[in-house]
Amino acid sequence: MAEGKFYITTPIYYPSDKLHIGHAYTTTVADSLARWHRFLGEDVFFLTGSDEHGQKIQRISQEKGMTPNEYVDNIVASFKELWAALNVQFDDFVRTTEDRHHRAVQAVFQHLYDNGDIYKSKYEGWYCTPCETFWVEKKLEEGCCPDCHRPVELVEEESYFFKMGKYSERLLKHIESHPEFIQPETRRNEMVNFIKGGLDDLCVTRTTFDWGVPVPFDDKHVIYVWVDAVTNYITAIGYPEDKDRLAHWWPADVHLVGKEIMRFHTIIWPILLMAIGLPLPKVVFGHGWLLFDSDKMSKSKGNVVDPHQLISEFGVDPIRYFLMREISFGQDGNFNRQALIGRTNSDLANDLGNLLNRSLAMLQKYFDGVVPQPLDEESLDRDLKRVAEAVPEEVAKCLESLDINQALTAIWSLIGRANKYVDESAPWALAKDSANQGRLQTVMYNLIEVQRVAALLVKSFLPETGEKIWSQLGVEEAINEQGFADTGWGGLKPGVMTKKGDPIFPRIDLDEEPSVEVPKRAKAQPAQSSAGKAAGETENVIGIEDFSKVELVVAEVLEAGRVQGADRLLKLQVDIGGETRQIVAGIANHYDPDELLGRRIIVVRNLKPAKLRGEVSEGMLLAASSSDGNCLELLTVSDALAPGSRVR
Ligand code: MSP
Repeated sequence: MAEGKFYITTPIYYPSDKLHIGHAYTTTVADSLARWHRFLGEDVFFLTGSDEHGQKIQRISQEKGMTPNEYVDNIVASFKELWAALNVQFDDFVRTTEDRHHRAVQAVFQHLYDNGDIYKSKYEGWYCTPCETFWVEKKLEEGCCPDCHRPVELVEEESYFFKMGKYSERLLKHIESHPEFIQPETRRNEMVNFIKGGLDDLCVTRTTFDWGVPVPFDDKHVIYVWVDAVTNYITAIGYPEDKDRLAHWWPADVHLVGKEIMRFHTIIWPILLMAIGLPLPKVVFGHGWLLFDSDKMSKSKGNVVDPHQLISEFGVDPIRYFLMREISFGQDGNFNRQALIGRTNSDLANDLGNLLNRSLAMLQKYFDGVVPQPLDEESLDRDLKRVAEAVPEEVAKCLESLDINQALTAIWSLIGRANKYVDESAPWALAKDSANQGRLQTVMYNLIEVQRVAALLVKSFLPETGEKIWSQLGVEEAINEQGFADTGWGGLKPGVMTKKGDPIFPRIDLDEEPSVEVPKRAKAQPAQSSAGKAAGETENVIGIEDFSKVELVVAEVLEAGRVQGADRLLKLQVDIGGETRQIVAGIANHYDPDELLGRRIIVVRNLKPAKLRGEVSEGMLLAASSSDGNCLELLTVSDALAPGSRVR
């Protein structure tokens, strides 16, 4: 794998309000990419920050009765808290109010002026304060900003102008010869059309307010906030003073931005860079929006989703996972609570969490928790190994093209393969006969090894989960010291003592979801019996009030064993939702105890305890059997339903 440098940025956010889950989306993706490139062994610099100047911020602080400084300090502190809560590990955070940034912006401006690219004139036109964008009349839509559809204001003031048009041919040529520069492709076409439509000279200073960086040679003017903002990408790496540092990191490898600010990043920013003689960023990727019920999140619509609330409710990794897995990177996607819960239960709690739990429980039982020495490989093992060897490369390939949700899909294909391997190799069946001891060793080794590889692949996206799996696997070396090469098969050392812990993802009980419509209990409708009588007329009929006396709940099998001296009986320890019960059942002819571990069955919770062959049974499980008794199957549900969930 490459050992270069990787410089990635997010937009710097306006401290006009607290950040919502949409802002968290960009930053989480950037953090995962930065972590991945560190994992590849590259020298990584991940930058984020806050865009604190401009008319919008000045007005908001006035409305709040604060100075702009007081106002932004508070909000910027909340940005940093959010990034910490989301496990976002940035290398630098630029505040545009910092001295180093003022110096950079003034140096850029002076450079443009010295080039003869700037002249003083008068601006008369429209301005959208929420977007901090100038508009000519013909671009307005029904008198409003064509981007955010809010009202614009008429502005008339003395301004400096930047001769953008001078660079448009050069920019078009660059875009043509660097197809990777603007991604995805649809946005490239939009930008090319925009440039071909003709670039007006850009108004680059304001005089009707003063919350900004002063023009170095004319302090009546402050520099336009977008020129100020985009410069942050070179402030952080030492512009203008530290030439070596700048040369090491620049050009940026990826600017990650939302699609609505592509114009600033693929037209204005590159032209500014051309004018000051710096190369252009390698890739500007414009991702789609996170929508809420198919509408853009915005404070005024009252549909913003607070990331802190989500993190405290679900934990950080379910949120990170959902954002990156559910939304096709580059396209708009919907934030939806039900989908978040569904993903968490199926992909995290069930596929990933339960695999770990079951495997470590079996390892504990068969090998006292110690990773055994693998012996001869069979074709089943070779197939698992083939997938485990192919997936890391596949993930790397997806991430090279910033296909983040496909990268996660690839990792989950490995986790799916591992789950299938458990069923196919059936360790519980092998454990019945000591003649299979060698085979059992190989199977259990492979099962733990595949999860070591999965933990390494997962950790860039879900850092907390990577660490939790790693610590339960008991691998001695720190996970953060592991690199891409360590994903190679066979890295797990036999003899490692695993440390089974709590399930890494608690399942979310849909019953507790206020937004789920709980169907009202229908009045029992008398059904026609085969004899043509209404059901209510037959003798065995009970009313709904009788049925509802029976409390049926989902239970997870924690332990299972045989009852001495009773061939037909199995003794189970089950979790019925925060309480462990013992259940004795006549199912030994149909199930091996180990086969039941981790299964979700249905039990009667309010049955009077009874003794069976000296063992107390505190409930009864539900099973269906054929009339001759030869076939019996337990009623089970998927892991999406937590222990204790009611069955009605
Ligand atoms: N300050 C400018 C950016 C200057 S960069 C030199 C700005 N700030 S912002 O606070 O409005 O943030 C915009 C960015 O936040 C978007 O480009 C995007 O990265 C992110 N998002 C804000 N809402 C979003 C969604 N609903 N969905 C996805 N991303 C969102 O513009």
